[in-house]
Amino acid sequence: MTLLRVEKLAIDVLRDEGAHRLVHDADFTVAPGETLAIVGESGSGKSLSALAIMGLLGEGLQVATGAIHFDGHDLLGLDPRRMNELRGSDIAMIFQEPMTSLNPVRSIGHQLTEGMRLKLGLSRKDAQARAVELLTEVGISEPEHRLRQYPHQLSGGMRQRVMIAIALACKPKLILADEPTTALDVTIQAQILALTSRLCRDHGVGLVLITHNLGIVARYARNVAVMYGGRVVERASARDLYARPMHPYTRGLLSSVPRLDLPRDMPLTPIPGAPPDPMQVVPGCRFHPRCAMADGTCAERVPALEAHDAHEVACWHPDRSGSPIRKAVA
Ligand SMILES: Nc1ncnc2c1ncn2[C@@H]1O[C@H](COP(=O)(O)OP(=O)(O)O)[C@@H](O)[C@H]1O
Ligand SMILES: [Mg+2]
Repeated sequence: MTLLRVEKLAIDVLRDEGAHRLVHDADFTVAPGETLAIVGESGSGKSLSALAIMGLLGEGLQVATGAIHFDGHDLLGLDPRRMNELRGSDIAMIFQEPMTSLNPVRSIGHQLTEGMRLKLGLSRKDAQARAVELLTEVGISEPEHRLRQYPHQLSGGMRQRVMIAIALACKPKLILADEPTTALDVTIQAQILALTSRLCRDHGVGLVLITHNLGIVARYARNVAVMYGGRVVERASARDLYARPMHPYTRGLLSSVPRLDLPRDMPLTPIPGAPPDPMQVVPGCRFHPRCAMADGTCAERVPALEAHDAHEVACWHPDRSGSPIRKAVA
């Protein structure tokens, strides 16, 4: 069963000289209770894809082609009022920096119960009781006391836990979490990601987890879509992607980040060069200027996402060695 299906999504920025494409043909799906990680360096189009799903692309940006199906709705065809209703009830979002999404002058209790009273029609007393339950679920002790506190009185990790509680409060079917833990240290990041994906699984909520850190998502995501330069370049189950990364970019990412599943003293190898300027047109595969495998074809023709069993990759020279990256490098 599919909860969210994004098909051939293209997003343009409109400029005086015409439309310029920032996201090309993005394809991914999420099932209820399942976590999909969207991974890629900064500027690869992850946030734009999430904003398109929420119907929140800013001024000057538009979905050029493609389809977004969510729980029986065609989101791109939905009238703005209905989309507004879905947002915050069926679809919730968790942002990177909770200090900017939490209101500093409202108590945690107020922010947690507001949506439940408005959207679920709960009484003050019932909303309060459920708020205590939710804070307990996200691992916050003395919940009654915390409800009376204000965001600045909580640690960064605690605030992110509150954000998860707020996201779950209105019983959404889908949560989009955009770099939810980037501001936190790695140990807390791992705890928060584990908690978020476990709660989503327990509640049957689909989770889109956006991150630039491929090293930490493996354990928490069922599926991974790797984005580069506005395109999905590899898509597979997390298990398969880690065991047999096929795209040179994914292999590069895996060798350049610390991983929880490998010894800490493994040397890291950065990917040479920098991500492409999204306003610049690069012919062929967008990764070719940084790729050791690149040849004339790569510089001229854009590779399409092709399936190798259940593992999809957009590359003219995918690695078929079936080896995890560390062994290939050693
Ligand atoms: N309104 C805009 N106008 C021009 N370029 C934009 C706009 N919004 C985003 N971009 C560009 O699109 C690219 C993808 O953005 P984004 O989805 O935010 O990347 P990320 O993967 O880091 O979340 C970025 O390089 C960004 O500069
Ligand atoms: Mg982003």
